[in-house]
Amino acid sequence: MSTEGPARVSDTAISDDEQQFELTVRPTRLADYIGQRQVKENLRVYMKAALNRKEALDHVLLTGPPGLGKTTLANIIAQEMGAVLHSTAGPSIEIPGDLVGQLTNLEKGDVLFIDEIHRLNPAIEEKLYPAMEDYQFDLMIGQGVVARTQKIRLEKFTLIGATTRPGLLTAPLRDRFGITFHLDFYPPEDLEVICKRSAQILQVEIDEEGAHEIAKRSRGTPRIVNRLLRRVRDYAQVDYDGRIKQEVANDALNRMEVDEFGLDERDRKFLLAIIEKFDGGPVGIGTISASIHEEKDSIEEIIEPYLIQIGFLDRTRRGRIATPRAYKHYGITPSSTVKPSLFDSP
Ligand code: ADE
Repeated sequence: MSTEGPARVSDTAISDDEQQFELTVRPTRLADYIGQRQVKENLRVYMKAALNRKEALDHVLLTGPPGLGKTTLANIIAQEMGAVLHSTAGPSIEIPGDLVGQLTNLEKGDVLFIDEIHRLNPAIEEKLYPAMEDYQFDLMIGQGVVARTQKIRLEKFTLIGATTRPGLLTAPLRDRFGITFHLDFYPPEDLEVICKRSAQILQVEIDEEGAHEIAKRSRGTPRIVNRLLRRVRDYAQVDYDGRIKQEVANDALNRMEVDEFGLDERDRKFLLAIIEKFDGGPVGIGTISASIHEEKDSIEEIIEPYLIQIGFLDRTRRGRIATPRAYKHYGITPSSTVKPSLFDSP
């Protein structure tokens, strides 16, 4: 039986309750942000330089899988620059009027955060270019033969774009960001520190081994650390003495069907489909998506990046391949026969 819960561990959807918790644990200063050392160090320099020159920070593009702290960093940048943060998301900007509304609201030095910027409608994206480059917006007035454009001057602002799919951004948009940071999955040591910090905020006692166990099974992702920590706390309080030790974390995570690599039912279904239905691959993403009833986008954005990172999956031009590690993990012996699929015409 699979666990019925508010969210799968790998979900990107965040419940209101979780959002509230995220807001309380999120660091607001760069010094409190754990991990991503290179990003932190470079960002510190760029912000200090802009502050010394009394300028707005150059536009920033943040890329990387969900849950790694792109929104957190946008908040930190605004806070450190002493600026007001205005947040929106690509799909929420439906017509040019939505964008002009956001842009004309900005005061000098303010930060406009656009999450999922790869989902901006192309007609709107084009309107962003002059706004980013020359701080002006070309507003169309009237229609047909009387149509004309009016240039609206904007204050100098910083645009922060976040995306899980940088490959989907057009080159002209990408080129207009002076600063680009890619966030990588966190090593377990960093996740352990994040776990202990969140436990302190939650006022739940946790020891090194307990934090290590949660960190190890969190797919390199702080949001998952926080999600698992809250659930493990439930088990600790109901079935144990309230403290999170290794035995408690281990038992709770097993009962939640999160395995020792942090993989859940969704990863298992995905990998076993490749292994069992398609003889280990190569198999196209569309075919896997149809066979496991999982959206192509969630496979590419949520499931695959971590499986590639831990060496369970190869993404090739001919399709996805389950690696020997994945076979071993699920206790399956690869068939020794030569795969006909390797000789298929492309
Ligand atoms: N919470 C989420 N991400 C974090 C990070 N990188 N550092 C500290 N706390 C966090």
